[in-house]
Amino acid sequence: MIILGIETSCDDTAASLLEISGNKPKVITSIISSQVKIHVKYGGVFPSLAAREHIKNLPKVINLALKEADLEISEVDLIAVTRGPGLVSSLLVGMAFAQTLAWKYSKPIIGINHLEGHIASTWLNETTTPSLPAICLIVSGGHTELVLIKKPGSYKIVGQTLDDAAGEAFDKIARILGLGYPGGPAIDKAAVKDQTKKIRLKIELPRPMINSKNFDFSFSGLKTAVLYLTRDLKKIKPLTKKQKTAIATETQHAIIDVLVNKTLRAAMKYKVKSVMLSGGVSANKTLRDILEQESHKLGMRFYKPEMQYTTDNAAMIALAGYWNYKSKKQKTDIKSVVVNANLSI
Ligand code: KG4
Ligand code: ZN
Repeated sequence: MIILGIETSCDDTAASLLEISGNKPKVITSIISSQVKIHVKYGGVFPSLAAREHIKNLPKVINLALKEADLEISEVDLIAVTRGPGLVSSLLVGMAFAQTLAWKYSKPIIGINHLEGHIASTWLNETTTPSLPAICLIVSGGHTELVLIKKPGSYKIVGQTLDDAAGEAFDKIARILGLGYPGGPAIDKAAVKDQTKKIRLKIELPRPMINSKNFDFSFSGLKTAVLYLTRDLKKIKPLTKKQKTAIATETQHAIIDVLVNKTLRAAMKYKVKSVMLSGGVSANKTLRDILEQESHKLGMRFYKPEMQYTTDNAAMIALAGYWNYKSKKQKTDIKSVVVNANLSI
């Protein structure tokens, strides 16, 4: 079975062709057209510009995916497109284009939840399927969720951020420090560099909600703490590179401490067999390593996406599309594809 995945929920225009044989997924192509250069001057995604870019780029990206895979659209068996959550103007471009393709070529079509896509990203090219129940930490620019997966297709959000998402905290703090956009990779890079230094500045930042009994998160206080700290330091003199690096490193530690602590506590409470990590922030090497080591210490298996599938991509949407198609959980006609942000429908 060949699935065409389409993802336009935010600022990445993506198309992928995924092959399923014997229930195993194999990514044939995964094309992503990034808009980072366009949004960089705004320090975040400018919604109307993102939609315009999707309109311009989506036909090219789909054509390129088909060309690279050496496939014709007639050979596609299913179209899977992101239906939410995301920027509505961006989602509508992908959905309308996917519906048109489905209508013109008489193909089944399925609308996919973006978060289910991130969950699926840990399964791409995996030879073994994660043992369930599992807990999945989804950390991206828009989301910080702990999802309990009891059986395939059954999702329960057991914890989430009350304000900023983890990726958003990375982005906003990097902006305060003048480290550029997107902030996650910039802070990650600064922290890695800092670890090689012999003399390091000691900075202490809070670990918001680390001791709270529930599995919710809050990162806006961390951002405020960095804002006040930099304001006070700047009263003396402009921030040095060393100070910026030290604050970036401590920011990363603070975010990772909270994420790892809560994920493992949820994993123990729900007695899961596997811990999964996904979303753009899962590209962070330190987070990947620590969560893997700590999960193994508890005797749990650990799954993470390959680096190229950590941030938004369409291969993960194609795989989630296959799951929904196979389980007949959703209808596959054009009129059933509507904007909908619910994870479980
Ligand atoms: O999943 P994604 O591509 O888009 C959303 O669905 O939001 O995630 C993007 C987020 C951004 O906030 C970015 O700063 C963060 O992922 N990110 C990272 C790293 N690479 C990307 N955060 C921490 N460390 C990284 N290496
Ligand atoms: Zn995402």
